[in-house]
Amino acid sequence: MMDKDVQPLKPPPARQDVFADAALRDFWYPVAPLHRLEQGPVPMSLLGESLVIWLAAPGQPAAIRNRCSHRHVALSLGQVRDGTLRCPYHGWAFATDGRCVHRPQIPTAKIPPSCHIPGFACQARYGYAWVCLGEPRSDIPFFPEADDPGFRRIDCFYEEWKTSALRVMENELDMAHFPFVHSTTFGDEHAPQPVELVVTDRGPYQIGVHARLQVVADALQAQNTGMAAGTSSRTMDIVWHMPFTIQITIRYTSGLRHTIINSSVPIARDRIQVVQFHFRNDGEGDVPTEQLLQMERRIVAEDRRILEAIDPYLDLYDSPEPHLLTDRAGLLMRRKLRALLDGQIPRDTSQRLETQLDDAQASAPAVGGEAVRPDVKG
Ligand code: FES
Ligand SMILES: [Fe+2]
Repeated sequence: MMDKDVQPLKPPPARQDVFADAALRDFWYPVAPLHRLEQGPVPMSLLGESLVIWLAAPGQPAAIRNRCSHRHVALSLGQVRDGTLRCPYHGWAFATDGRCVHRPQIPTAKIPPSCHIPGFACQARYGYAWVCLGEPRSDIPFFPEADDPGFRRIDCFYEEWKTSALRVMENELDMAHFPFVHSTTFGDEHAPQPVELVVTDRGPYQIGVHARLQVVADALQAQNTGMAAGTSSRTMDIVWHMPFTIQITIRYTSGLRHTIINSSVPIARDRIQVVQFHFRNDGEGDVPTEQLLQMERRIVAEDRRILEAIDPYLDLYDSPEPHLLTDRAGLLMRRKLRALLDGQIPRDTSQRLETQLDDAQASAPAVGGEAVRPDVKG
């Protein structure tokens, strides 16, 4: 809940608001875990579009508008029959592309176009159904751990938050919030900024961040990471994928590699579906999933408390906010989103960039000695 003292600003004019721009429709979003679809159709809102997602065949999700053409009932109440979705009201059946393919009352009559509804591109990847409402500008982000038998995937969170996807991405790129927001989990108040911080421009659709941080571990976190309890350091290599997916690889000196994938699926400007899953190069016998989720739940609750208290409205062209040096990656993201809105990013679906940051970044120069500056430009 947004604090009553935090009054939302007036929404910026449409041109300045990324959530009012049709360009966001041209990206992939993970809208539902496949295991949920096995129970039946799932309703979901994406950028104001009401969708129903279902499994047309094992591992083959489909997404169409969640309104029957006949009397506009929600098709998510319907049933899957032979791969089609049957309306709960009068039984009309819809194919994966939204075409009406059967009307039980008049089965031999030609079906006119007015009976069809919009269907959307939908693919299964990493255990989720991903949807693109428009023409995809880039691939579904590539996470190499998914194909590596040395890693396990852990599905962590699928839940609605009252915040803005843009603010969540800024939070994920912000290496100065840990000591304050995560003060009860791993943040070290004696280390208010990272020891190293390198921001890399990785083309129109990606940003890289390399950071080394001083952190603390309690007994549970120490068990989960194979580290000694107390103060230690960790490196984080982050890739932001336009618009709202982030990939965070944390390396511990214990040898553990822990990759966090967070996609903030924009339901609306001020509401998101949090989709978070992890990859780890250990096994259930090393650290049980339940034990991991216990700590991860505490960490995301700390972020959620702050994110739901931030004004969701942001004028991408004229924000009065002052900045810290550690806001650089977030500001670069804003610049890339402005380029998207301004039509300056050419369509290029061949952009399947390697998302492993190279070793050169691991020895990058430190910023620890630099004072944070109030004059970083957006
Ligand atoms: S409302 Fe769907 S078939 Fe009538
Ligand atoms: Fe955080």
